[in-house]
Amino acid sequence: MTRGTGSRLVGFHEKPVEERQRWIAEVAGLDPEQVEMLSNASPLPLETAARMTENTIGVHALPLGVALNFVVNGRDVLVPMVTEEPSVIAAASNAARLARAGGGFVAGSDPPCMIAQIQLLDVPDPERACERLLEAEDRIRDRVDEIEPGMARRGGGARGVEVRVVHAPLGRTYVVVHLLVEVGDAMGANAINTIAEGTAPLVAGIAGGRAHLRILSNLTDRRCARASVRYGFADLARADLDGEQVARAIEDASLFAEADPYRAATHNKGIMNGIDAVAIATGNDWRALEAGAHAFAARGGSYGSLSTWRVEDGGLVGRIELPLAVGTVGATVDGNPRVRLALKLLGVGGARALAEVCAAVGLAQNFAALRALATEGIQKGHMARHARAVATAAGVPPSAVEEIASRLVALGDVKVETARRLWGERGEGT
Ligand code: MEV
Repeated sequence: MTRGTGSRLVGFHEKPVEERQRWIAEVAGLDPEQVEMLSNASPLPLETAARMTENTIGVHALPLGVALNFVVNGRDVLVPMVTEEPSVIAAASNAARLARAGGGFVAGSDPPCMIAQIQLLDVPDPERACERLLEAEDRIRDRVDEIEPGMARRGGGARGVEVRVVHAPLGRTYVVVHLLVEVGDAMGANAINTIAEGTAPLVAGIAGGRAHLRILSNLTDRRCARASVRYGFADLARADLDGEQVARAIEDASLFAEADPYRAATHNKGIMNGIDAVAIATGNDWRALEAGAHAFAARGGSYGSLSTWRVEDGGLVGRIELPLAVGTVGATVDGNPRVRLALKLLGVGGARALAEVCAAVGLAQNFAALRALATEGIQKGHMARHARAVATAAGVPPSAVEEIASRLVALGDVKVETARRLWGERGEGT
């Protein structure tokens, strides 16, 4: 078996699945039970699934893969990713491989501060109510910590109170209170919602109004993570273009997304391809992440890109920043054995480190997409992988998938009917 070190496992993608499992088990120090779990066809015991959601009738599966080559803050990281989309894991791994020459990704994150929102109705004097609420900040913070004392004991808890007067359609005016609360290594949604509901009577009394909605905000802009990476021109060169030409082409792709919401939506979708895949593998709420990311992308009043790419000092520098409310503890993590396995693979110390890896993966994914789009186009590489999925969907057995997929690509006709026809013509189809 070809060997590598850390997250650089040369030849990994060419190995059969069982060999990859053994290799990852060795590198990540998985115990025999976890290795067994990887080969187990059912990713989640049915009884566990039935306790997680309602009306359960089975378990739905998606592929779990590992993105290789990542170095984040000087540490090699194996990144578990769950996605149905071909090319995503290969693209992230390639982008991370090229980044190694420049030391990989540098990432950072804010403390895990969430926002509980309380909407107040029928406040007679909103401006004066805001002043009273701010004067009562210490009382409100104490109440927050009484409601979730464990959080305060573990070093988290209330961090601040903010108030706004929000002018809504139909001429309505609301006083909106934000409770800022640090939640440790949890995503924190449950604790924050409990805090919002528990603190609302006190807050409404101080304001002289009536509490209405009491819920977290998914625009978790106090809990952002950021990452940057530098590719030297030499690492960007291709057969037909020199490295500086590729860098400038990627810069133009970035500027397009920064200026145009139609392009920004697709650019950011590519970023979230990577982040969601890590979020799903690690049992995180990817809808919350999506909501936060897109709201953050529109924070300036018009929707823009979450990343930027610039030609700087003989290289191409990428930067990303977005809200990343992810957790490494909580019911979903504890209840799902595959999630525990994914966290073991990652080897991250807590929620902030996970958020930093997510930011790096999002940036890598974005680089890979822009590099393809700005040079040969996305379809060439994508089609080869898509063809395998098409051949599988057409009922081609695993032993013949590669062959039929190659023929589909060569024909330039990657369709299920064509795959069925080719397989039928081969004389072994059903
Ligand atoms: C496809 O899933 C993602 C891309 O469209 C992202 C992009 O256009 O930047 C390739």
